[in-house]
Amino acid sequence: MIKNVCCIGAGYVGGPTMSVFADKCKDVIFNVVDVNEERIKAWNSDDLAKLPIYEPGLGEIVKRCRGKNLFFSCEVYKCIAEADMIFISVNTPTKTKGVGAGKASDLKWIESCARQISAYATAHTIVVEKSTLPVRTGEVIKEILDSSKSLRNKNSTFDILSNPEFLAEGTAIENLLNPDRVLIGGSNKDAINALHAIYKNWVPEEKIIHSNLWSSELSKLTANAFLAQRVSSINSIGAFCEVTGADIREVSRAIGKDSRIGSKFLNAGPGFGGSCFKKDILNLVYLANHFGLPEVANFWESVVHLNSWNQDRLTHIILEKLFGTLSEKKIGILGFSFKANTNDTRESPAIQICKNLLSEGATLKIHDPKVSKKQVALEFGIPPIEECKKNEELNKKFKYKKWEYSILKDDFFDNLDAVVVLTEWDIYSSINWEKAAKKMRSPGWVFDTRLIVDEEGVINSGLSFWGIGIGNLK
Ligand code: UDX
Ligand code: UDX
Repeated sequence: MIKNVCCIGAGYVGGPTMSVFADKCKDVIFNVVDVNEERIKAWNSDDLAKLPIYEPGLGEIVKRCRGKNLFFSCEVYKCIAEADMIFISVNTPTKTKGVGAGKASDLKWIESCARQISAYATAHTIVVEKSTLPVRTGEVIKEILDSSKSLRNKNSTFDILSNPEFLAEGTAIENLLNPDRVLIGGSNKDAINALHAIYKNWVPEEKIIHSNLWSSELSKLTANAFLAQRVSSINSIGAFCEVTGADIREVSRAIGKDSRIGSKFLNAGPGFGGSCFKKDILNLVYLANHFGLPEVANFWESVVHLNSWNQDRLTHIILEKLFGTLSEKKIGILGFSFKANTNDTRESPAIQICKNLLSEGATLKIHDPKVSKKQVALEFGIPPIEECKKNEELNKKFKYKKWEYSILKDDFFDNLDAVVVLTEWDIYSSINWEKAAKKMRSPGWVFDTRLIVDEEGVINSGLSFWGIGIGNLK
């Protein structure tokens, strides 16, 4: 029976997952370790609002378990040595250079974890891949674990499992508590059963699926590829609706009633973002090419292509409605995170769309309830207007790339030519457009890429409304 678990990587996946495990398995010790001291300090912060990750419900769980059977530290080696099960939850970004750059996953962190485990594990250890990995990475890990025999403790032996996460940000705790399924891939029955026993504490038996290692690794990539494909599919039909007079909401409702299709993931929008979808599809594309299946690769690559096309398409629509030029125009951006209820901006469609608008000469006024000004600046690589003004060199360099960050008060709308809604935050559905319109320049536009604003309110206020998948209502 497992008594001591170590998780390497205290990120979006490792932190919440181990917190829920600790809450549900009081007899097991969970050590979450990370090389990033600042992150660990934040996980140990007394003020739960300072935890490095915002997930509804996470704070209470951490409060209940931290210091009892849940610990966050930088003591990687010590915790590896004590553990009989180790989760690898480190990041696996897309490679930026070398063979497979732009597509393949960079496995350097995975490799370094395997080497550390190999060097410091003391007895039989079950190593669990939690990070999303290319198919057959398990083989690489096993090879590293087995090959560095000279370094490692002679008594240590290893089993490898794949146990992919299916957490969506903003609902991670709910997804962990009530998963649709838990997938455990591997070849050793005892190892599989040991992890099965952990989940059995709260997950119904019939939801815990076993498979071989490769099926498990591929299932994770496939699940994300299918979900992303649905977003690109509905966005392609959305564009079609706009030119034909159909309404994407009606189409989604109609097809979603077909139980074979199902009603989820059929909302048209600016495109999918987040740390996983693009990375995982590109990974699949790389692997398909690698295994001599170029048609398969092209099929999945088109999903990513449609996603970026959709973002550029939105920019063109905004440009066209604003008489073909954005210079001297001020546009309000509502929402910067890749979806509502998260502060995560990774691959957010807002980044590409805003960069396009800045390149066209627009001045942007950006609001997001959770994303900080610092984070926006980081994504743009351009400082906000007030910092540029203080520095002659910056002022010159970014003369035509002006943006400011703002709270959402009545004066947000002062002199705006248009407002573009990019994230479906609740607060944007209750904006008083009557008041806003009085502050905006005329003719003013509202572009709703999430279909959440009060259309009638916009139109009654005299502003023009454009909605994704429905087009121009006035
Ligand atoms: C995860 C998965 O691991 C990734 O494969 C999946 O596709 C998306 O989710 P995530 O938890 O979002 O990644 O990553 P991140 O929040 O960046 O956390 C990873 C942590 O691992 C970081 O805190 C980093 O400091 C840590 N790390 C990285 C180590 O502790 N050691 C290393 O060697 C490398
Ligand atoms: C996703 C998967 O859902 C999860 O299982 C996996 O483990 C990690 O990747 P996440 O990235 O948190 O989770 O977000 P998700 O809620 O799936 O949304 C992804 C993107 O698709 C967002 O940008 C979202 O706005 C977009 N989306 C989703 C749509 O545009 N329309 C939809 O109908 C659904």
